[in-house]
Amino acid sequence: MKYNYDKSALKGLSIMPFLNQVKTRNKMIEAASDEMPQSIFNVNRVAAALHPAWQHVKIAKVTDHGDAKSYLLIADKEKGTEKLAYFRASQYVSVELNIDGALVNKPYTIRSNPADALGAGSSYTLTVKLTNPAYASKHILDNWKEGDSLSISGPLGDFYYQELRDAKHVVALAGGSGITPFYSMAAAIVDGIEDFDMTILYGSRSSDGILLKEEIEELAERSKGRVKVVHILSHEEKEGYEHGFITAELIKKYAPEGDYSVFMCGPRAMYDFEDGEMAKLGLPKRRVRKEMSGDYLGVEKNPDYQAPQEQEFKLTVDIRGQKQTVACKAGESLLWAMERAGIAAPSRCRSGECGWCHSRLVSGKYFCPKETDGRRLADEKFGWIHPCCTFPLSDIEIYVYPIVR
Ligand code: FES
Repeated sequence: MKYNYDKSALKGLSIMPFLNQVKTRNKMIEAASDEMPQSIFNVNRVAAALHPAWQHVKIAKVTDHGDAKSYLLIADKEKGTEKLAYFRASQYVSVELNIDGALVNKPYTIRSNPADALGAGSSYTLTVKLTNPAYASKHILDNWKEGDSLSISGPLGDFYYQELRDAKHVVALAGGSGITPFYSMAAAIVDGIEDFDMTILYGSRSSDGILLKEEIEELAERSKGRVKVVHILSHEEKEGYEHGFITAELIKKYAPEGDYSVFMCGPRAMYDFEDGEMAKLGLPKRRVRKEMSGDYLGVEKNPDYQAPQEQEFKLTVDIRGQKQTVACKAGESLLWAMERAGIAAPSRCRSGECGWCHSRLVSGKYFCPKETDGRRLADEKFGWIHPCCTFPLSDIEIYVYPIVR
């Protein structure tokens, strides 16, 4: 076939550079240095800034709330952290603790405004309340003071508002210190970082023990009607407060007409109760979200758990060929047993979500509650476990990856 097109635009162009292309390229390769290029791809720079494995922080201020304290954390530049990573409102960081030789990582919600992480004065605020089990919170409340240095993870967790998935109005169910993620969301709404409306149903025992009461009400006032707070007291009847638990009827009373999402954060007993209330409301599954980070307690109450006869098992931990055998009680997670024995085992969420503790089962039987089993089917098939929510049913051996710094 003959093409009839105008070739005049090509006049004056030499074909030689094209013919010499390979020769020229080989020359450039020969002339190049053998050293690895020192530049870092921008995408890697951004990833390192947003998702650091570790951040070094100092406690700049401690605020006492009675049975809880708030800690203002700033970047510890002397240890190499120039500024703190940005986060989504209601994410958490995992805090590294050494409690009498036990090496523990515990997740705590960043309860401040994400905007506080930006700029020169980059900071997070963590609010820690004495909780059950108290080993970590008591250690923090008794020991942390201004000027202390800490190692914390980058921000983690997916308990945040997702415009594509969640309704435009969130009904937030908070129990006790479970107010912290909603505090962060409220601050983000007031600041214009987040764009949704939120009604917080905040359950406390009595009116004199409401954590961050004035602070959250002040945010609600500044929100121009976008954030509302309703207090519910379980152990006191008082004018201006609802009484009892956060029931389906109460949710209906304060939820908007039409579509809404329910977000909840509180103790496991609250989730068990609210599961029944959600069924009464008939909300689709995608409209109900729970903050899951933290230890799975009371495995013996799980209907699928068959309590073993023995009270204690041997747990053998292999880290790069170095084996240690430690005691693991029935009903306690493999992670707890390792931590108690002073083994530095990786973890973040402690609830089967993040995969940070991913380890290989060498031998033994175990139980993993369905609600914390975040493994893929292939993980289970090929013997991978999450020690944070794996409970022994026999002596057990696992291969654990070392903590990466
Ligand atoms: S610590 Fe997150 S899955 Fe185990």
